[in-house]
Amino acid sequence: MPNKLAQRLSVVAPSITLAMNAKAQELRAQGVDVFAFGVGEPDFEPPAHVLEFAKKAIDAGVSKYTAVTGVPALKKAIVDATEKRRGFSCKPENICVGVGAKHVLFNLAVALYEAGDEVIIPAPYWVSYPEQVRIVGATPVIVETTEESGWKMSPAQLQNALTPKTKAVILCTPSNPTGTAYAEAEMKGLLDVLAGHDCWIIVDEIYADLVYDGFKHVSASAIAPQLRDRIITVDGVSKSFAMTGWRIGWGIAPPHIIKALDLVQGQSTTNPAAISQQAAIAALTGPLDDLAAMRETFQKRRNAMVAGLNSVPGIRCRTPEGAFYAFADCRGLYGLPYQGRKIENDEDVAFWLLEAARVATVPGSGFGAKGYVRFSYAQSEARIAAGIEAMKAAVAKAKG
Ligand SMILES: Cc1ncc(COP(=O)(O)O)c(C=O)c1O
Repeated sequence: MPNKLAQRLSVVAPSITLAMNAKAQELRAQGVDVFAFGVGEPDFEPPAHVLEFAKKAIDAGVSKYTAVTGVPALKKAIVDATEKRRGFSCKPENICVGVGAKHVLFNLAVALYEAGDEVIIPAPYWVSYPEQVRIVGATPVIVETTEESGWKMSPAQLQNALTPKTKAVILCTPSNPTGTAYAEAEMKGLLDVLAGHDCWIIVDEIYADLVYDGFKHVSASAIAPQLRDRIITVDGVSKSFAMTGWRIGWGIAPPHIIKALDLVQGQSTTNPAAISQQAAIAALTGPLDDLAAMRETFQKRRNAMVAGLNSVPGIRCRTPEGAFYAFADCRGLYGLPYQGRKIENDEDVAFWLLEAARVATVPGSGFGAKGYVRFSYAQSEARIAAGIEAMKAAVAKAKG
């Protein structure tokens, strides 16, 4: 039996979150109550009107293939929502709807990058960015950022990373895993640098609606209209409307890029699910009360999580501007006893937290940030408080 896999897979890193998840599930199967601080999706339901609309669409017989890049009504809803909520205008021919934002990013990788190309990615990064670049044979160029700089890449760092081989830069604001978001002047600083270098500017804005304390999200396209022929915005309903399982995301790009995405998508998934497209139309065109309530709740939880983490001896955490993650420095826990030895890295911290405090998290090294651990606060305040207490108790016990 032939058993050789394609060479391209040899460069793709297996996800460390999978090992963590497997361990957490093993514990849950034994009846252990695990605090789910590792999750990457809102714990809310989609708005009720979205579900109603989707049910009606099923009854109305929406069950056929659609145009590969999405139905016209959804594109119109995206155009309107982008104008209203992201502050820049686009046209239906600028839009490709895919099976989630991740799919759009993957199709972009297939359409744009090849061997010899470099793609600049600031760290900490969402795990899929470098892996998608590697899968298509291109080279991710990681730019390290620090907590002291708010996990933001500076214009000078970006300038230094650019080479004649740079094919694209991928920015994520607000960021997974750090929750950091670029303020207008900071984003402008990066775009000014990119104005002088002919490459694609991919901006993942999937968390743009989830920003706190009045922080104003800025879309690159809104503040640099002169670069719009090179900016590709990635967005979707997964996070804003708690619709991760519906799998609808989109790219906003110049028409020739949309044609390329159409070509790639047309040979793989064809259209995203017809019913999901209808649900996304309802989400984008309906009332935004649920989103406002979710944002308010997340802000309270963020405050509870950050204050809680900072109260655990050995953990320190910056207050993030958006998303639903707290990215904490856990190096203060190094040296605690763990499985007959000492904790010596963030993976040890994550596994120890799971075993000693029943807290599931994601270690930072998977995001390119050793020493840190990502805590999702897509959990009730009561669960956050209980998880923090469990961590404090575990630290106290470990210190004897
Ligand atoms: C930064 C970022 N981009 C994209 C995605 C993927 O979104 P979707 O579920 O729409 O594919 C995620 C999901 O975790 C994410 O964190």
